[in-house]
Amino acid sequence: MVQVKNICCIGAGYVGGPTCAVIAYKCHHIKVTIVDLNTDRIAAWNSHQLPIYEPGLDEVVFERRGKNLFFTTEIEDAVNEADLIFVSVNTPTKKSGMGAGFAADLVYVESATRGIASVAKSSKIVVEKSTVPCRTAESMRTILETNSTGNLRFDILSNPEFLAEGTAIKDLLYPDRVLIGALQTPEGRKAQQALAEVYANWVSTDRIITTNLWSSELSKLAANAFLAQRISSINALSALCEATGADIDEVAYACGRDARIGPKFLKASVGFGGSCFQKDILNLVYLSEQLNLPEVAAYWKQVVDLNEYQKKRFVERIIKTLFHTITNKEIALLGFAFKKDTGDTRESAAITLCKHFIQERATVRIYDPKVADEQIFLDLTEPGIVITRSPYDASRNVDAIVIATEWDEFKELDYTRIYKNMKKPAFIFDGRLILDADKLQKIGFRVHTIGRKENEK
Ligand code: NAD
Ligand code: UDX
Repeated sequence: MVQVKNICCIGAGYVGGPTCAVIAYKCHHIKVTIVDLNTDRIAAWNSHQLPIYEPGLDEVVFERRGKNLFFTTEIEDAVNEADLIFVSVNTPTKKSGMGAGFAADLVYVESATRGIASVAKSSKIVVEKSTVPCRTAESMRTILETNSTGNLRFDILSNPEFLAEGTAIKDLLYPDRVLIGALQTPEGRKAQQALAEVYANWVSTDRIITTNLWSSELSKLAANAFLAQRISSINALSALCEATGADIDEVAYACGRDARIGPKFLKASVGFGGSCFQKDILNLVYLSEQLNLPEVAAYWKQVVDLNEYQKKRFVERIIKTLFHTITNKEIALLGFAFKKDTGDTRESAAITLCKHFIQERATVRIYDPKVADEQIFLDLTEPGIVITRSPYDASRNVDAIVIATEWDEFKELDYTRIYKNMKKPAFIFDGRLILDADKLQKIGFRVHTIGRKENEK
């Protein structure tokens, strides 16, 4: 059996960094080198201020960095030394050309694959860690086999990543499952086993699932589609709750107590964000269309459409409530990240909200505990935003507060102090259902919560 002793990971992002840092943390006998083209990102991984915020990540990286964990831009050397290479590069939605707006852009996967082929001097196991359309592994194998020199062997595995941001380290240390797909040939199974042995250093074998390549690739898209579908389902019901007087948290609880439904991932919100859900569903939609399955495509597309509707619906509720105009009004936006415990803003609902507010010529005073100012300026190039250092500063003299991210600290604020410093009537719109509406109402706030009628609990 092949024993993996040296791993290279191409792509030092939200997935490559934490995933391979945890492998180094759990497998001291394996040398792990994470490479990237982005020199600033690699410099940050080698500094005290890591390029991404993730609870528990610093401890893992600082413990193993320089011992069996390395970050470098010297891609060629790292690829050559490795016996197993993770390809963990970005696969964003295509912006132009065929499949624009839906298909995954595979340009980075292809260039990483060609890079491996052009420098490899020995046989390798190449692992798709990026989320890719079904059958990408086949393209990778063809590129590797037709572009490498000598008599080298490349076994391609699919090992999709299921970590969620904000809980990445916990998810990696205690995964529900690890999925490894391989061609069902003797060599494919051997490679599959070699990667399974790496994970077996800390994951019990009953949690390591082995499948064929295409099942593994499709399972990743399917898992994200299922999860996002639950959020769109609860958000669709939240609109019904607002119209009827039912309370969405109560409905979620009542439904979630059915063991077949389960309680997780039923929190209504202003809409899901993050770099994965929308991208991966659109990818699935495109795949279905390409396979001439328009009904399947339409079914999954609706999950994304409902998410857009939810954001728009929330904005409309805010404008209507603020006497049908927010022009020249000031709005405090609490939270800019797409969820709590991350500084990531990719596809954050907060961005959509801000753009709508700015279009209506309101001023938005933004506070987020982890998102960097530069990131906000990259996401919002329009004038009309003010970045603030505290929720108290953000809400000073504003007409309304909008909760866009469920940061724990927003539950514990001194709302009496905030109320005193706001214009009256003082409105608060809870897009995350984290606030105690009764308590706020007693202070004097007019409270609007997603999935509830005004001030009704
Ligand atoms: P990211 O943008 O944070 O990181 C990707 C990195 O790859 C970048 O730093 C980029 O510079 C580097 N890169 C691109 N091409 C390269 C090349 N040829 N050589 C070297 N480096 C190269 O992306 P991410 O969030 O880490 O996502 C990576 C993949 O994992 C995507 O396919 C994504 O869908 C998937 N995924 C992401 C998450 C998540 O929570 N972010 C979870 C599961 C799966
Ligand atoms: C997701 C998947 O959970 C993970 O398995 C996959 O590997 C990558 O995509 P991530 O996007 O990092 O992870 O975070 P997740 O916790 O899934 O949240 C995604 C979005 O859904 C966030 O905006 C979150 O606030 C929202 N959400 C989540 C809800 O609105 N309600 C919920 O009940 C759960």
